[in-house]
Amino acid sequence: MTASEIRALFAVASRPEVVSLAGGMPYLAALPLDVVGGSLERLVAERGLVALQYGSGQGDPGLREQILDVMALQKVHASPDDIIVTTGSQQALDLVTRVFVDPGDVVLAEAPSYVGALGVFRSYQADVVHVPLDAEGLQPEALREQLEKLRRDGRRVKLLYVIPNHHNPAGVTLSAARRPEILEIARRYGVLVLEDDPYGLLGFDGDPLPAIQSLDSDGVIYLGSFSKTFAPGYRVGWAVAPHAVRERLVLASEAAILCPSSFSQLAVSSYLSNHDWKHQVGVFRELYQERRDAMLDALDDLLPSASWNVPQGGFYVWVRLPAGLDAKAMLPRAVTQRVAYVPGTAFYADGQGRDHIRLSYCFPTPERIREGIRRLAGVLDAELEIQSTFGPGMGPTPAFGMGRVTGPSDSPSPDLT
Ligand SMILES: Cc1ncc(COP(=O)(O)O)c(C=O)c1O
Repeated sequence: MTASEIRALFAVASRPEVVSLAGGMPYLAALPLDVVGGSLERLVAERGLVALQYGSGQGDPGLREQILDVMALQKVHASPDDIIVTTGSQQALDLVTRVFVDPGDVVLAEAPSYVGALGVFRSYQADVVHVPLDAEGLQPEALREQLEKLRRDGRRVKLLYVIPNHHNPAGVTLSAARRPEILEIARRYGVLVLEDDPYGLLGFDGDPLPAIQSLDSDGVIYLGSFSKTFAPGYRVGWAVAPHAVRERLVLASEAAILCPSSFSQLAVSSYLSNHDWKHQVGVFRELYQERRDAMLDALDDLLPSASWNVPQGGFYVWVRLPAGLDAKAMLPRAVTQRVAYVPGTAFYADGQGRDHIRLSYCFPTPERIREGIRRLAGVLDAELEIQSTFGPGMGPTPAFGMGRVTGPSDSPSPDLT
């Protein structure tokens, strides 16, 4: 494991004068904090001796029942016994990798992919091989070709890691038509699908698509999380896994943490039973949609030289910079101009991504988003001017020790997730 080069920069970027379009932090001010506080008080008064005690390694049985209701919206088939509660879905990523991946094994991931998962894969010395995605998500034909090539090369492929809904960072959703196709290819090559779905309920239009897991509960491990639909501070996520796998995950989790936090689990459980959580998810959806619109309007008005996708949910817009600009080299200059983003390089295991940036609209208000894009437009203009005068690659020397040309992705910090 290595420290992220851009970590140091984010210490600066978290200063209040900087508009951060970098982090994936949910907008918790939209939660009814009085309701949450009241329920915590009741929890300690009424069930304190359970909530403050060690619990089951697999997770609280009551919460596992409730997780079934949450997943029913995406047609995930499971029984409470198939679920293991984890310390955020991040721990589930770690457990699955620990159980399945030996050094040198291949893990397939979309190009780009979630920085935190790439960090986990790397920490177990997996060889991450990217498969391209487009506006409809992971490309089946490219997946087939890559698997065929890896088979010819005699490589052992352990996992296909997919973020099907409102992708981090690409913002796209895997189309309904492609889901069975991807599954069929993975099945044919004997590869387990790791479906990571923290944003599935945060779509702006219509009902969520059925999870890939709903099509084959044996070939898929499904990961869910309360971080984006409730609050990440509780650190409660979960995995749904086929029976034999689930036993291993429980053992691995017990070895790592003994059990997930009883207090957090019961707090989430009491929130789900005493509060209209579906309504609250709707409140978040509306809020994020308004912010997405604010970001797209600002991009239209102020950054016409860049291009981007239109996310139908989630937190992120994936922006392609004008030709010749380098997202990573430009970041210190952007932070100096009091705006932060995540350079595309964070989302690849192989040094790609210098031509992209990820912008998050989840946390800043619409006014701050516009101000952030205005500042970013100023930075881009300055870069383009330098480029037109001196040619590409002639920006000021990068600060903060930046400028590594290739190399695997950075381990995540909460600013990056
Ligand atoms: C795609 C994806 N997976 C997993 C996580 C980790 O979430 P948590 O551990 O908070 O459940 C994140 C957080 O941003 C994410 O974007």
